[in-house]
Amino acid sequence: MADIEVLLSEEQIAARIKTLASEILAVYGDEPITVICVLKGATIFASDLLRALGPEHAIEFLGVSSYKGTKSTGHVRITHDLAASLEGKHCLVVEDIVDTGLTLAYIVKSLSVRGPASLRVASLLDKPSRRQVPVHVDFTGFTIEDRFVIGYGLDLDQRFRGLPYIGIYGGE
Ligand code: IMP
Ligand code: MG
Repeated sequence: MADIEVLLSEEQIAARIKTLASEILAVYGDEPITVICVLKGATIFASDLLRALGPEHAIEFLGVSSYKGTKSTGHVRITHDLAASLEGKHCLVVEDIVDTGLTLAYIVKSLSVRGPASLRVASLLDKPSRRQVPVHVDFTGFTIEDRFVIGYGLDLDQRFRGLPYIGIYGGE
């Protein structure tokens, strides 16, 4: 059995997503949003957020993979591209966590040239102490310390994504 300490409970996450959705809707007004879910970590958060936003919004999926070497510059590439054009759409990139910022910086750079009417970012978690490149996060669920977290979509070698809460992995 893995030793996991609960950092954010199911209830805390659900309550924050409700308020986050209100904060997001206050900015977009009646404009339909294209939610861009970053695979795979953001899938659970994006599904709950989409339902909290209401029925008029679209969802798209973007797969990226990042390789972090010893150098400060990570290499990021798109493994699954969006099915729809972003031309003239109000886009909200939905991430699980912003750590060094390298993945998000690459995503924003790649999507901003596709002609969206607007491009904003929502991340469930943010670890600002780990930042290597500046990135702007418009909507943050929770700001956390520099701890490796799992659950609610976040994995450790593909494990634990199905945990309903966010925890800190302490070994087996
Ligand atoms: P960044 O490019 O360093 O900002 O990394 C972002 C990605 O690294 C996230 O989308 C996650 O997939 C992964 N990641 C960063 N920190 C954690 C963590 O604490 N737990 C699980 N995955 C993480
Ligand atoms: Mg991710």
